[in-house]
This record gives sequence, C-alpha cells and structure tokens, in this order.
Amino acid sequence: MTETVFADDAAIAKAVELLNQGRLVAFPTETVYGLGADAGSAEAVTGIFKAKGRPVDHPLIVHIASPAQLSDWASTVPETAQRLAKRFWPGPLTLILKKRPEVPNEVTGGQDTIGLRIPDSPVALHLLRAFGGGIAAPSANRFKRVSPTQASHVAEELEGLVDLILDGGPCRVGVESTIIDLSGASPLLLRPGSITKAEIEQVLQCELTEISTTNNDTPRAPGQMAVHYAPTTPTRLCPSEQLNETIRQLSEQGNKIGLLAFRFEPNLSMTIIQLPETAEAYAQGLYAALRELDRQKLDIILVEQPPESNEWHAINDRLKKAATAF
Ligand code: TXA
Ligand code: MG
Repeated sequence: MTETVFADDAAIAKAVELLNQGRLVAFPTETVYGLGADAGSAEAVTGIFKAKGRPVDHPLIVHIASPAQLSDWASTVPETAQRLAKRFWPGPLTLILKKRPEVPNEVTGGQDTIGLRIPDSPVALHLLRAFGGGIAAPSANRFKRVSPTQASHVAEELEGLVDLILDGGPCRVGVESTIIDLSGASPLLLRPGSITKAEIEQVLQCELTEISTTNNDTPRAPGQMAVHYAPTTPTRLCPSEQLNETIRQLSEQGNKIGLLAFRFEPNLSMTIIQLPETAEAYAQGLYAALRELDRQKLDIILVEQPPESNEWHAINDRLKKAATAF
C-alpha cells in the first residue's frame, strides 16, 4: 500500500522511521521527485532497483544535508568539488567523486565513484537533516520513463511499490540535476541540467568536456542512454516552420496527433499543450505536459522544437531522448 501525505513535520518523522526500517520513501527535490532509501544499507538500496525495475549496475545519487558529509562518502574531496559545492549547493548539481571503500556497491552500481548532491528543497533538506545519513534516490519513476515532478506522478508510477510519498507540491526546476564528474584527470559534464556548462566553467576556470549522449553502449550514466525520459506514445521533434505541413501529412495518414507547443498556434482542432517561452518555465512544466499527452491515447506526440541556445540545452537533451526512443 502506498500512502501520499502532505509533507509536514509528522509526515517527515514517519518518513525517517520508514527509512530507518530499510523501507522506501518518495520525496520532492527542486528538480524531480526522488525514490529514497537509506544509502548506508545495501538491503534498503536493493529495494530501489526492484521498485523501479532498474538494472543493478546503474549507480544512484546519494543526497546529503551538508558539505561536511561529503567525506563520509567520498575518499577524496578535490578543491574543485569544494568550490562547486560552495557556489551551487544546495542546488541542482550532482558531483561524481571517488568513493570510500565502505560505501555499499549496490549504491554505486559497482563503480569506484559516487554521485553526491545537496538538494535545494525545504522538504528534502528537512528530511535529510532529520534522518541524519545519506539518502540514495533516483528519480521516482519506472526505469526509462519520464521523471515525476508532482506527487501524483509518483503514485502513477510506483503505486504499491513505495511505502510513503511525501507531497511537497510541484518541483521548481523540473529537469534532473546537472552531473559533473570530478573523479578523473579533467572534469566531465555527464548530464546537462539547469545549471549550465558555462556557469560550471566559470567556477572551475577550465573547459568542461560534455560526453556525447548518442551511440553510447556502455554509458557512465543511465541518463546518457538514448532511451530515457520517454513517454509511451511515439514522440517526434519538429521545427516550428515545418509544423503545419507535418500536422497535415500525419493527419492525412489517419494519425491522432497531440502537440507540445510554445509559440505555434495551429488553427486545427487537436490536443495541444502550450508551454511558456522561457526555458525556466518550460522546464518546470515539461514532464507534466508529456505525461498529460501520454494519457490521451494519441498515435504521435509532436513537440515544437525549442531554440538551441544555452539555457535550452538541458530541455533539448531530454526532448531528444524522448524522441529517439522510437
Ligand atoms: O535531479 C536529480 O539528479 C534527481 C533527484 C531525485 O535528485 N535524481 C536523478 O537520479 O535524476 P537518477 O538515478 O534518475 O539519475 C542519476 C544519474 C544516473 O544517470 C546515474 O547513472 C548517474 O546519475 N550517476 C550516479 N552515480 C554515478 C557515478 N558514480 N558515475 C556516473 N554516473 C553516476
Ligand atoms: Mg532517472
């Protein structure tokens, strides 16, 4: 049985009790909802993989409450990590560092590195402080599906598979954290997020290499696999100027079309969700919109291609992944 409760003090106390018993608790972060378990318990963490249907070699992010906890999990904390932590934590940034030997292999998918972040959400921080230890949490969706940005999305995905869902309202950022790997000779960007490559480079004072997300058979991060963040309805990206013609052709072929638009206003009757024109607001609404369109039993979801500029990079990354799944 899954219970969804408003994340007040009593609910958080209950969540801590469940985590201490090795059970699973879903909670809001500023990016997306996470499916949490006690990161210090191999058995508890195994429950996450079962609930998500996620392969066990895909590493999890460990959420902590303060930078002082970094050394509980990382064997070395480079100066670059301290600088990024100081500038961006709490916030939507995950750092990959060399792990301490005692960190359960279940958490890191057998890798010798660990992902760590301090989330910037009052509920998540309250929970982490009350629990005291690290909370391992992937996004609270079934493997390969769209991440949840509202408590009801988590219930849709994991009903009966998670003990408690803390409802903290819709997530402020809406796309998953930026992931920076600091475990090697030079820093790598493994997953773009709302904190941009340029912002990281400014703090690091060096260039950041972005790992290509295509044709990557053995990804360091599952977020790098092409078939991620995907609705179940075939999804296609389309430039604004080609929308009219594409809609006409697809309709002629008898397809029921849904459109995720941000500028385009078609004069046709079809299912349309209009998202705002700023990247920040678009990201906030993106996953809820994809979920909504996915519920409509459409033949195809058309997504109006957003601009290619920096602030749209994380959004385009997720949209490309949603679209290449078919
Ligand atoms: O915003 C977020 O990061 C959300 C919230 C809940 O914090 N979490 C999230 O978790 O998106 P998940 O598991 O869905 O994605 C985490 C990504 C995965 O692609 C994983 O492979 C990568 O982080 N990751 C974790 N540990 C890693 C490691 N040691 N080396 C490389 N990649 C790692
Ligand atoms: Mg995920």
